Amino acid sequence: MQNLVNDHSRYLQTFELLLANSAEHQCMKEFIHSTLPDILASIGAGEPTLNVMGVGSGSGEIDLEIIKVLHEKHPTAKVDNEVVEPSKEMLNKYKTLISKMPGLDYVTSRWNTMTATAFEKEWKMRNTDKKMHLINLIQMLYYVKDPGATVSFYRSLLHKDGKALVILLAGECSWARLVSTFHDQLWDNKTNQDLSSKHLKIFLDSKKIPYRNYNLKSLLDITECFTPGNEKGERILDLLTEVVEFSKSAPPELKEAVLEFLKHPDNSQEVNGRFLFDCSTEALLIDA
Ligand SMILES: C[S@@+](CC[C@H](N)C(=O)[O-])C[C@H]1O[C@@H](n2cnc3c(N)ncnc32)[C@H](O)[C@@H]1O
Repeated sequence: MQNLVNDHSRYLQTFELLLANSAEHQCMKEFIHSTLPDILASIGAGEPTLNVMGVGSGSGEIDLEIIKVLHEKHPTAKVDNEVVEPSKEMLNKYKTLISKMPGLDYVTSRWNTMTATAFEKEWKMRNTDKKMHLINLIQMLYYVKDPGATVSFYRSLLHKDGKALVILLAGECSWARLVSTFHDQLWDNKTNQDLSSKHLKIFLDSKKIPYRNYNLKSLLDITECFTPGNEKGERILDLLTEVVEFSKSAPPELKEAVLEFLKHPDNSQEVNGRFLFDCSTEALLIDA
């Protein structure tokens, strides 16, 4: 079985399917507009330029939403936006979004088509003492080799009042339980694709790193997964398992076990004949 994250164009299509069939971005935007404004107001007050970094920013919708709120709180400051994202497809969408969005002339973006780990090396080569006011690591730590070391490195780049915003699958949600149950059968056992907020909180607590956490509730409609041969259902299975053409490539017993897990009343709720799967996330706002 082939890991979906290595196939950038398929990964993008599958991620868009998640956004279209769940409230993932909607609940992040609610969090950005309800909880973040006061916190962003306290970052970098009076500075002429605010330094923002997005790591694994994807097509930028969430990072830009945050930048817009930051600007509302600091209307005279320029924003220097360093973007780190390995997928060219995602970055092209991000650039298109910026070009179509009016009123962003206060933002200057620098594009780094590379992984979080490659950017660590790049940053060290730049030999700069520049500090970041805000670093976003949203739904991406699953794809790094050592999530704790990655958080520690990026946190070390923060300005003394800065914050790092990490969003991950919530430890207790059904999707986190699915990936922890089937990790060894789905992917090479070196990946961290079963990472959830629970693991990161254990890491932060062990290092006594201060943070605040917020639950972002989201459900994914998985009804079509139970209709054999249904194209949308098969794409949702690819999304949930992060395997390319899971239905075709998985051994039959694994496919059966995954479908059984998805339908189990502990894992999805049936509402008006639709099956809704809990894919809630948790936001961890980490201090410098
Ligand atoms: C689930 S998407 C999240 C995108 C965006 N942050 C959002 O929430 O809309 C995961 C992103 O992480 C990126 N990614 C994958 N491996 C990565 C790595 N090693 N370092 C940085 N980003 C990575 C993917 O290309 C993808 O854009």
